[in-house]
This record gives sequence, C-alpha cells and structure tokens, in this order.
Amino acid sequence: MSTFTDNLAFEIAPLLRGLTFDGKKGLIVHRCEAKSVALNLGSVGEGDSIEETVKVWRQKLDEFTSTYRLWPAVIGFDHPDLQFGLGTNYDEAVRGEGVSMVVGLAPSFTRDDVVRDSVAIVTGGAQGFGEGIVRSLVEYGAFVWIADMNEAGAKKLADELNWEACITVAKAVQVNVTSEESVKAMMDRVVAECGGVDLFISNAGVLRSGSVKTMDLKDFQFVTDVDYTGFFICTKFAAPTMALQNLPSRAYYTDIITISSKSGLEGSNKNGAYAGAKFGTIGLTQSFALELVEDNIKVNAVCPGNFLDGPLWSDPEKGLFVQYLAAGKVPGAKSVEDVRRSYESKVPMGRGCTTADVIKAILYIVEQTYETGQAVPVTGGQVMLN
Ligand SMILES: NC(=O)c1ccc[n+]([C@@H]2O[C@H](COP(=O)([O-])OP(=O)(O)OC[C@H]3O[C@@H](n4cnc5c(N)ncnc54)[C@H](O)[C@@H]3O)[C@@H](O)[C@H]2O)c1
Repeated sequence: MSTFTDNLAFEIAPLLRGLTFDGKKGLIVHRCEAKSVALNLGSVGEGDSIEETVKVWRQKLDEFTSTYRLWPAVIGFDHPDLQFGLGTNYDEAVRGEGVSMVVGLAPSFTRDDVVRDSVAIVTGGAQGFGEGIVRSLVEYGAFVWIADMNEAGAKKLADELNWEACITVAKAVQVNVTSEESVKAMMDRVVAECGGVDLFISNAGVLRSGSVKTMDLKDFQFVTDVDYTGFFICTKFAAPTMALQNLPSRAYYTDIITISSKSGLEGSNKNGAYAGAKFGTIGLTQSFALELVEDNIKVNAVCPGNFLDGPLWSDPEKGLFVQYLAAGKVPGAKSVEDVRRSYESKVPMGRGCTTADVIKAILYIVEQTYETGQAVPVTGGQVMLN
C-alpha cells in the first residue's frame, strides 16, 4: 500500500494519465454533447492511500467513459484545482474540448500506431540522430518534447513541426542531462503539462576522441558525464513518474531507451572515453531493466553504426571526415570522399546508419512487450552479437 507525499500534484498527474490510458492506449469516451464536462474526482491529501484513491477515480471515470482514444493533458498546477483536459490532441486536451466529441468505433491499431498518442522526450533532440527521431515520432503520432541544451535549435524544430501539423505536436524544453536540477525541472514541466511520459529517449551524447596516453582527464570526464552519467540522471527522474502511470492498471508499459553505439559493443581505437561510456550505458540498461520491470518500464539500448550523413561526421569544418583527413587517420586518403569510402567499406551493407534505421529499432522495442534489458545493434552487419 503506498500513500501520497507532499509532492502531491506531481503524483496525481501520472496516476491520472495511467488511469485514462489504462494500458490500452487511450481513454475512450462515450457520446457527450456538452462542450466541456467537469468531473469532480474529489480531494486527496498527503498520507491518503494511492490504491484506494485510484479505485474511487476509476469508478467515477467509468461512469462517463467507454471506448474512444483521447489524449489526456494535465494542466494548471498553479490553480488550487488540478485541471485535467481531454482531447484528440494536445491543443484540444488543454482547452478541454475533446469530450464534446461524438465517437464511433475505436480506431484500428497498426504497426505505425505503436507510438501514437504517446508522450515522448528526446534528449539531444535539436539535431543529428535526435532530430531525426523527433521527426519520425511526430510523423507516427506521438507528442514530443525536444529536450536539448540548445534551446534555440529545439524551439526552431518544434515551431517547424507545429506549423506543418497545424496543431501542437512538439514542444521545446531546455535541459542539461548532466544536471539533476535541470532534468528534474524538465520532468516536472512535462508532468505538469502532459501528466507523464511514455517513451524517454536518452539520446544526448558527445564525443571527444584521443589516445589514452595523452587525453586530458577533463575531456574524459566531459564525455563520461554526458554519455554515461546523463543516462543515469534521466532514468532516475523519469522512472518514478512512469511507475505511477503503471500503478492504476499494472498493465501500462513505458519505455526508456538509450542511444548507445556500435562503440558500446566493441572497443574503439583512440576513442576510449566514448566507447567506455557507451559500454557503460549497456550495463546501466541491463541493471535498470532488472529493477524497473516490476513497474512495467522496459529499458533498452539501441546501438547505431556511424551516422555518416549526420553533422558529427559530415560538418564541413569540424566533422570527423575533415578531422580524420587532416590527422591522416586513413592511409592514402586524399579527400573527404576517400575517408568516407573507407568507413563505408567497413560496413557489410555498404553504407552508414541513418535515422530511418534507428527509428525502426525504437518502434520494435516499444512494440515488443516481451523483452527488456537488450542492446539492439543497427550497424548494417558491422557488429554481430554472439
Ligand atoms: N553520429 C554517429 O555516428 C553516432 C553513432 C552511434 C551513436 N551515436 C549516438 O547518438 C546520439 C546522438 O548523436 P549525434 O551524432 O546525433 O549527435 P549531435 O552532436 O549531432 O547532436 C547531439 C545533441 O545533443 C545535445 N547535447 C549535447 N550535450 C547535451 C547535454 N549535456 N544536455 C542536453 N543536450 C545535450 C546537443 O546540443 C545536440 O543537439 C549520441 O548519444 C551519440 O553518441 C552517434
């Protein structure tokens, strides 16, 4: 038996989200002709039983709901009453207009619907793999928080996606994944506005290569802080909310996915800080998976091969192709193209990894509810597991 603490609002929100989604993707609302409906769920206070409260809420919600998928949003923590909006999308939910809909059959569920109506957070979502993941998740119907240190870049992407969709499908939130305060503030905002999070993609990462003989400790620690410790901090603050979402039905699966690397599966010459951190994320993945399975939180890693078209490699000024050419890392290479061909030739499937490849792995992980703690390679055959 668990009880509410003094952090009441941030506990109520995920519970409500869990209750309305109830493990079957969506609150289903019967015919209701009023433009908005006020449903008084009663008051709760510190020390009250969570299980008993959820039972009462379930009865009240069941009285006016049946089977249509709606998008819940929890807003208004500044008000004495927590406001809980419902809609077929975020904008409707915030305005509380969705309950005015008269609906027919529940929509069919196809493979592309795996993340539809989910709330996702993508750290490092402003560019590179993260940006591609954000775009795909929005395309497949998720509501995405673009969480990045680069707030301007995140906002630009959110504005573009919202403009294209003509509704709010993404929001920018500034975060530094190496700071507990910053990640907590991000989670508080997401819970305040969306009630919880279904899919947390820990993607933010940095790379500083260098020989173990000469690398500065501060460079080693910089990579470790973002790529390894950042994943710990994100999981620490996402998991309690996800656990509450699961609590009402015990059938509410959520996902934490870290974007590791093929360098998390095999060593990387003169790139030990990065490979060490990426190996480490797989150790965390397995350990967190064991612990969080009781809350129906799956924890997995995706291990992409080199994203040769991404900014890390292809930036014309500081990309790895330019750096490796200048450093003579590829014997005989006379141009950036030579360096690129050399890296492509290491891949049995003959090309670099793309975000389209990575998103397929993400959708598989979310859809698969009989697997956790895995590291899924997406390397064109460059790394093969034993
Ligand atoms: N590029 C590749 O070839 C490749 C291959 C395998 C795995 N990966 C992994 O994929 C992920 C994304 O890589 P990418 O190449 O797209 O990177 P990128 O450098 O293009 O983008 C990284 C994003 O993360 C943000 N970021 C950096 N530090 C942050 C922090 N402390 N807090 C919040 N945001 C922060 C940056 O602002 C940027 O928007 C990384 O984890 C990386 O290790 C990349």
